Amino acid sequence: MEMDKLVALCKRRGFLFQSSEIYGGLNGFWDYGPLGVELKRNIKNAWWQDMVSGHDDLSAPAGAPDSYEMVGLDCTIIMHPQVWKCSGHYDLFHDIMVDCRESKKRYRIDQMRGRWVVAKPPGGEGGLAPEKAAEVQSLGRLFIVSDVESPEAAVEDTVARACQVLGIRKKKADEHLTWESTSVVGIDSKVDRARVLAPHATWFGTLTEPREFNLMFSTQVGAAASDDARAFLRPETAQGIFVNFKNVLDSTRVRVPFGIAQVGKSFRNEITPRNFTFRSREFEQMEIEFFCHPDSSFQWYKYWRDRRMAWYTELGLAGERLRLREHESSELSHYSTGTADIEYAFPFLPEGDFGELEGIAHRGDFDLRSHMEGKLDPNTRPLQLELGPDGKPRHRGSGKDLSYRDEITNQRYIPHVIEPSAGADRATLAFLCEAYHEDQAPDENGQMQTRVVMRFHPRIAPIKAAVFPLVKKDGMPEMAQGIYRALKKHCNVFYDEKGAIGRRYRRQDEAGTPYCITVDGQSLKDGTVTVRDRDSLQQWRVKVDDVVAEIRQRVGA
Ligand code: GAP
Repeated sequence: MEMDKLVALCKRRGFLFQSSEIYGGLNGFWDYGPLGVELKRNIKNAWWQDMVSGHDDLSAPAGAPDSYEMVGLDCTIIMHPQVWKCSGHYDLFHDIMVDCRESKKRYRIDQMRGRWVVAKPPGGEGGLAPEKAAEVQSLGRLFIVSDVESPEAAVEDTVARACQVLGIRKKKADEHLTWESTSVVGIDSKVDRARVLAPHATWFGTLTEPREFNLMFSTQVGAAASDDARAFLRPETAQGIFVNFKNVLDSTRVRVPFGIAQVGKSFRNEITPRNFTFRSREFEQMEIEFFCHPDSSFQWYKYWRDRRMAWYTELGLAGERLRLREHESSELSHYSTGTADIEYAFPFLPEGDFGELEGIAHRGDFDLRSHMEGKLDPNTRPLQLELGPDGKPRHRGSGKDLSYRDEITNQRYIPHVIEPSAGADRATLAFLCEAYHEDQAPDENGQMQTRVVMRFHPRIAPIKAAVFPLVKKDGMPEMAQGIYRALKKHCNVFYDEKGAIGRRYRRQDEAGTPYCITVDGQSLKDGTVTVRDRDSLQQWRVKVDDVVAEIRQRVGA
């Protein structure tokens, strides 16, 4: 599937629009249109229903070590600034960036990859351009950064760019350039920038000194513009759960093991927002913090990893494009004994690459202890308080006791946490990509035409059924409207009497509506209507009195 086609469909049919589009848009911000808002809401509702409100607290689900309870929370976006100091976001949540003075573009230094090359002095056919020789010879080793993501393409790209800027004929590259590595390599902040050719520059040395950018959006609470009034828009929903852990324990009867779930907006000032909604600056997360006894935490980790993977599969993200990737031990934080990502092969990624949909992390007691004692140093084991240059805690915790006492065993401990953290926008994007299909279907003249059809699982489809009168006369609209009103009590239904019936079907195929109900001449005689299946294109007749029950049963409404 080509991404351009999906992007065009999303705009044409009202799934997604660029934010503030009439003013030229704002990079990294997206609006959901009338169909998009239904789709995303259905995904969030399915998550809440399956993880929280529909969860059976009384019995252990398959694969779980025990039964457990689930409750929800809805916390504020702006919280006490100390939350982000203790969580680590204040110190760690930043990227090191460089700017290109020539192209005015900004890059993350850790994403700058390319090759070291040395150009031989001019001489021989197709070699280094003489007018560039002196400067190139004085620079010596040159680092050519590529703008291409795939490593194979980057090798080719860097050779081509090196030849272009140095005036070397591409066919003669092997003769006049020496490569210091066979594959692309990253550069770090220590590399002399005079030798670096930035991705969109025409000569070397255009990059600025690396600078730190905190990804948290800051704002001000109240009228005073002082440092004390500075606060942040949350970069994740998780911390609201940790800081309310004691409130939930004190106000409900939950006992460990239990989970707290939250769905809400998060904000990250991403330096390079890209790939449609995949990396946005404002997005929604669906997070669970699951609190359990340290001894059973690894079993719970495995349960949540598999449970979350099954959730996507059940809603239609099946097949080779979805995978569960367990992190290597070198990728894990010191306090974590397991992290897995659920990944999807988004069509905008190079062949064979996958993008993260959700991370499931074993976080140990890092978060609760940090909010109790002060920011812990994630590189210590066992975890120790991080100290400042004065030997005092770098960021002080709340001092509140966030430990848990088991009423049966009387044991007191700090629960360990398993965190399944999903992105609602990334999930929506993956479901959109997976749903997009083109096939052949006959038009009203019986001619086969290419049809665009969004094959959403009925549970997340924005519209569950559309009702059409074949023509706008003979009592057909009245009958169709009756069906529409009866169904509307149960699910989102669309009524359409405008245009040729074939066109109306096509519009619903593009919206991903699983069923279309048509009232025709026969309906008035025998009280039956046709029901058309979006995917198989099969049509069958159903009694008017039964059609609501049939659609409800098929879409689960
Ligand atoms: N509390 C853990 C946490 O926030 P994360 O991996 O940074 O972990 C979790 O984010 C999920 O949030 C990601 O798997 C992704 O689905 C979503 N997400 C993160 N950054 C995003 C962004 N800039 N745009 C869209 N979704 C994002």
